Amino acid sequence: MIVELSQGLNKYLSTVGVKQIYAIYKYYLKHFIEGFLLSFGSILGAVAGINYVLQRQPDFFGNLTGSGSRNISVKNPEDIKHSLQELQLDQAVYEQVMGIIQLLKSPLGETEKIRRELFQVKASKGILLEGPPGNGKTHLAKAIAKEAGYHLIEVSGPNMHKKFLGDSEALLANIFKAAKKNQPCVIFVDEIDALIPKREANDGSAIGKHYTSLTDKFLEEMTHIDDNDQILVIGATNFIARLDRAATRRGRFDAKICLSLPDAEQRQRIMSAEFDRLKLPQSAEIESFRKNLIERLTILTEKFSPIELRSVFKDAKLYCYEHKLGNYTVDVFVNAAIQIQSQERLKMRN
Ligand SMILES: Nc1ncnc2c1ncn2[C@@H]1O[C@H](COP(=O)(O)OP(=O)(O)OP(=O)(O)O)[C@@H](O)[C@H]1O
Ligand SMILES: [Mg+2]
Repeated sequence: MIVELSQGLNKYLSTVGVKQIYAIYKYYLKHFIEGFLLSFGSILGAVAGINYVLQRQPDFFGNLTGSGSRNISVKNPEDIKHSLQELQLDQAVYEQVMGIIQLLKSPLGETEKIRRELFQVKASKGILLEGPPGNGKTHLAKAIAKEAGYHLIEVSGPNMHKKFLGDSEALLANIFKAAKKNQPCVIFVDEIDALIPKREANDGSAIGKHYTSLTDKFLEEMTHIDDNDQILVIGATNFIARLDRAATRRGRFDAKICLSLPDAEQRQRIMSAEFDRLKLPQSAEIESFRKNLIERLTILTEKFSPIELRSVFKDAKLYCYEHKLGNYTVDVFVNAAIQIQSQERLKMRN
């Protein structure tokens, strides 16, 4: 009896003990796993956070950009919205542009190589677009890429200046690497004067040295474009005289396209295209209105850039809409032109 009782107690105690130990073990295991996951997650989060901050460091101008190649956006030609048809160009400029596009489109087959060797004609590594604001430099650069079926990498000259030593040069190297990988490719550098200014202007300061180093790097990258690479660098500037002279020597930016203010004939074509966009019904009356309007505006808009000419039509349309006018009148357009002209004069005085 006594033996039976002690055996039963032992059995009971051992069962309870195992259960308790198991419960304690489960409790600690659960908390250990939770703790481990929590600390592992925190470390992972912290590493990702630091990496993000380093990638998004502010540059000289406070812009947030990364310098890794994965931040370089490469556009497919079919995604470029800027068409050549939208531009009313001067005839000589149009022919120059078409010649460039034809050369870019020609495949680099054997015949093309022989033609290049025989006639020393080859697509330039670089083209400079120069002219006053609003004359279509940015639009044309993108339209050339689209028309030639090239990929497009857009670079803003002022945004190339990064805060940390060597970051801007690394970014430039990555841009050219991305272009090589995505051939055929246009690298479009807007406001290129901010990227490759004259090196002799270097005053020995840290900023001066940085500009010189960046110009050197850019010229080096351009030199490394092989004749058989299908890469074209297009630079746009309002201030061509500010560029480093080595940039405009042969073998770098060979071709220059000057987009100056439109003459009377070009202005008429731009305004005529804008008139068509009003989508007025066709009639003899409307035709005479168009003729009269364009004649008046051609005289009034002598120093207007294409964007200002297009704004005359945009502003007149807005005025008619806001004032619920049923018909367009010549006066509405003339007033819009006068207003744009006076705004420009004010800007020049300030
Ligand atoms: N020749 C043109 N024919 C028709 N529209 C034009 C022409 N040139 C410019 N435009 C219009 O003006 C817009 C602005 O032009 P764009 O931005 O290309 O000028 P830009 O020369 O690059 O000016 P900025 O020097 O200020 O950068 C174009 O998107 C286009 O709508
Ligand atoms: Mg521009």
